[in-house]
Amino acid sequence: MSSQLLEGKRGIIFGALDSNSIAWKVAENAHAFGAKFVLTNAPVAMRMGEINKLAEATSSEIIPADATSLEDLENLFTKAEEILGGKLDFVLHSIGMSVNVRKGRHYTDLNYDWLEKGWDVSAVSFHKVMQTAWKLDSMNEWGSIVALTYMAAQRTFPDYNDMADNKAYLESIARSFGYHFGTKKKVRVNTISQSPTMTTAGSGVKGFDGFISFADKTSPLGNATAQECADYVITLFSDLTRKVTLQNLFHDGGFSNMGISDAVMEQFTANEK
Ligand SMILES: NC(=O)c1ccc[n+]([C@@H]2O[C@H](COP(=O)([O-])OP(=O)(O)OC[C@H]3O[C@@H](n4cnc5c(N)ncnc54)[C@H](O)[C@@H]3O)[C@@H](O)[C@H]2O)c1
Repeated sequence: MSSQLLEGKRGIIFGALDSNSIAWKVAENAHAFGAKFVLTNAPVAMRMGEINKLAEATSSEIIPADATSLEDLENLFTKAEEILGGKLDFVLHSIGMSVNVRKGRHYTDLNYDWLEKGWDVSAVSFHKVMQTAWKLDSMNEWGSIVALTYMAAQRTFPDYNDMADNKAYLESIARSFGYHFGTKKKVRVNTISQSPTMTTAGSGVKGFDGFISFADKTSPLGNATAQECADYVITLFSDLTRKVTLQNLFHDGGFSNMGISDAVMEQFTANEK
């Protein structure tokens, strides 16, 4: 499936770590749909070297940037405009990390230095990315900025730990900055609330396997894959969604509006039959 839906569009894609990453699939898709972009990730993630393959496959350049560093971000946006030959039409923020989750620290016993680090990486970095783009006037009118989030921002999923709070903060930043970007530059800002997906970030969550099957059995359409998420992102980068902004868009096979499904119920009634 490919067309030139994004022809002439330029952007920056954050967060492609390996071929499982949602950002990886978005980059492959954006390339297939005719966009030009710069890939970026934290300098430490570059050490894996995987991203070089993606750069080659999508004819794109890589500019390392720690998304919590304003200096790195300024360098990134300035160079991206130079490389791509103009202002940007889209930005994907596909970044998440909690030190407390990584180190198995329980939510009732959080390490607050770790909490601050995870909050900066997972949520405040979205503000930093947008503030940098704003100050450098890097976005074209009718551009589109998208970040990825998870429904633990609205409902309780105990093992999601402090990432739930980070995602709530991230979604709020989308609305707050989206207002300013909309009124000044007609740029839209949205978050996509994606199904649980088997990636490096996702599989760090305790009990993730069980949780993925629960979500899959609950959702009428089943879990949305990383590839399907990437397809949805392309629609948001395209001109077909110009008036969608300040939204948290659920991309989860219907999970977010379910109570219980027959498939889940069967697990609890098996003994009654
Ligand atoms: N996997 C899931 O189940 C799931 C569900 C809903 C939402 N999401 C969200 O999707 C996004 C992408 O995650 P993914 O599942 O593709 O996993 P992933 O591990 O492939 O991607 C996370 C990325 O964040 C990058 N990153 C971490 N610290 C950074 C920093 N300081 N500066 C720049 N980049 C940094 C990592 O290098 C990595 O590329 C995240 O926001 C995640 O929370 C994931």
